[in-house]
Amino acid sequence: MTKKTALHIISSARESKSYSKGLSSAIIDTLIRKQEIDVVMERDLTKTAPPFLDGNLIDGFYKHPAALNEAEQKWLTYADAVVNDVRNADILVIGTPMHNFGMSALLKAWIDQLVRVGVTYDYDENGARKGRFNGKKIYLAIASGGKLENQPDFIAAHIKAVFNTYIGNTEVWTFRVEGTAMPGFQVDYKEIIREL
Ligand SMILES: Cc1cc2nc3c(=O)[nH]c(=O)nc-3n(C[C@H](O)[C@H](O)[C@H](O)COP(=O)(O)O)c2cc1C
Repeated sequence: MTKKTALHIISSARESKSYSKGLSSAIIDTLIRKQEIDVVMERDLTKTAPPFLDGNLIDGFYKHPAALNEAEQKWLTYADAVVNDVRNADILVIGTPMHNFGMSALLKAWIDQLVRVGVTYDYDENGARKGRFNGKKIYLAIASGGKLENQPDFIAAHIKAVFNTYIGNTEVWTFRVEGTAMPGFQVDYKEIIREL
């Protein structure tokens, strides 16, 4: 049987107290148990934080990879590693806390390192963007202190749009731990992912 690889992205700094990490880890465990994946690449963004975009990086992003000099290639080291991780993964399991209605700043910085014209996407003759990495699956694990019914959430829609526009056709499933800041909160990860 072909080996399937999952990329596990952790983006909460709360380590073992993190509910998004707890949920994304439960998803990974289930995928292993169901023999849907056999290799896991874990990337904890709190351990190796993505650099924020600066002028050098942005210049490098818009150059053809073959035209980069040695210094420019160095600036793109983290970005190249992120692209390779996503290229090599069949499945992405992405955990994020909700921070101010959006994804964690670390995860946003990781996405900003990933998306690159001529590398992850191209423009077609009509100016539409076409991703190069099609057919990946994403499982999103979102933890929020409050409940979705009481607040807006831009995380799932944002990540779906980024992947389907800039990376390639991607199926996305979203799982949520909600109300983590509410009195008496208790979590049952198995129940949240029962349909996985
Ligand atoms: C800076 C900050 C902003 C937050 N913003 C929100 C928010 O907009 N909505 C919400 O429901 N919870 C918010 N929370 C609560 C977190 O979503 C909650 O603690 C969640 O469990 C974090 O995920 P984690 O357990 O994986 O770290 C915020 C927490 C912090 C620290």
